[in-house]
Amino acid sequence: EKGGWSSFMAKEISEEPEAIAKTLLGRITDGAVHVEELEPLRDSLAEINRIVILGCGTAAYSGMLAKYAIEKWAKIPVDVELSHEFRYRDPILDEKTLVISVSQSGETMDTLMAVKYAVDAGARTLSICNTQGATIPRESDAVMYTHAGPEVAVASTKAFVAQIAAFYLFALHLAAVRDTLTKREISGLLEELQALPDQLATVLEQHDKIKELAGWMVDTSAVLFLGRHAGFPVALEGALKLKELAYIHAEGFAAGELKHGPIALIEPGQPVFVVVPSPRGENSLHPKVVSNIQEIRARGARILAIAEQGDAAVLPYADVVIPIPLASTLFEPLLAVAPLQIFAMELAAAKGLDVDQPRNLAKSVTVE
Ligand code: BG6
Repeated sequence: EKGGWSSFMAKEISEEPEAIAKTLLGRITDGAVHVEELEPLRDSLAEINRIVILGCGTAAYSGMLAKYAIEKWAKIPVDVELSHEFRYRDPILDEKTLVISVSQSGETMDTLMAVKYAVDAGARTLSICNTQGATIPRESDAVMYTHAGPEVAVASTKAFVAQIAAFYLFALHLAAVRDTLTKREISGLLEELQALPDQLATVLEQHDKIKELAGWMVDTSAVLFLGRHAGFPVALEGALKLKELAYIHAEGFAAGELKHGPIALIEPGQPVFVVVPSPRGENSLHPKVVSNIQEIRARGARILAIAEQGDAAVLPYADVVIPIPLASTLFEPLLAVAPLQIFAMELAAAKGLDVDQPRNLAKSVTVE
């Protein structure tokens, strides 16, 4: 079943372009989003004034990106919360709140209980889920399935990129319903979304280079990950993958937070992955992240940069650069995360660990 791959995880990473393509398939016509599954929410989507996104682990990080996309494109305030924190703090919910749960398995108990709480409080509910007929979608007003295909490896990979693709489709649908983007803007963004599978395939071609890097780092005891804006959830996910698979202490930080504490961790030789925003990015974060790189480099950090192809500014300071194709800010995460997944997997493999079944973890956690 692994089809020649050394692990399910390796196979599932290789399937990421297809997972995105399948999630988009049949849902874009004539430059607009058409998702029949959203029909039950038709009236609600025009009336809601707030969105709350709930998930755990990797799923919650896809929710962070959804927040950026929904707020930018559909102009509705979004909160993202870990499912297990949510219902224990008297959250404010009403019929004008849409609660979107995101779960690969659709069975995560923490998320299920949070959804039930939201239903009882009178909120509208949408499930983003990869598993047909799972419990969470059955408890929700509507479900938008990701079509990543079955994910066997415990650490989520292809389901994550499919979740982001589904969320972006949803955000653009919402922008159409609420008239916050023009048809032309929406069709342009959809074209960029549809270009991602081919772009991601070119990123995956760097597998051997990343494997080599992982091979050099088997004795590493801690790795830091920095990102900003859309790169921040990518940094968090890169760190989570390394903890889950290679049992290495890893932390993801927002790059702007560096000077408020984490920079104290930098010692000579400390490896730091940096997800560098595009130099063409609309919000000019690129120079700020480059100056973060300079600061930590001056203190001896080893810089492993994920940067846009041709980004000359990072070259003088980076020990390794993993280039990704040109994409708009919100689409970069779909290209930048795979190298970090591959790195964690290959480092775990180099340490002789079981990458599909890491110790102490389960694919779906059905206890609270
Ligand atoms: C964890 C898994 O226990 O649950 C993670 O190990 C996953 O990989 C998280 O991201 C959430 O799972 P789900 O099925 O709700 O997306």
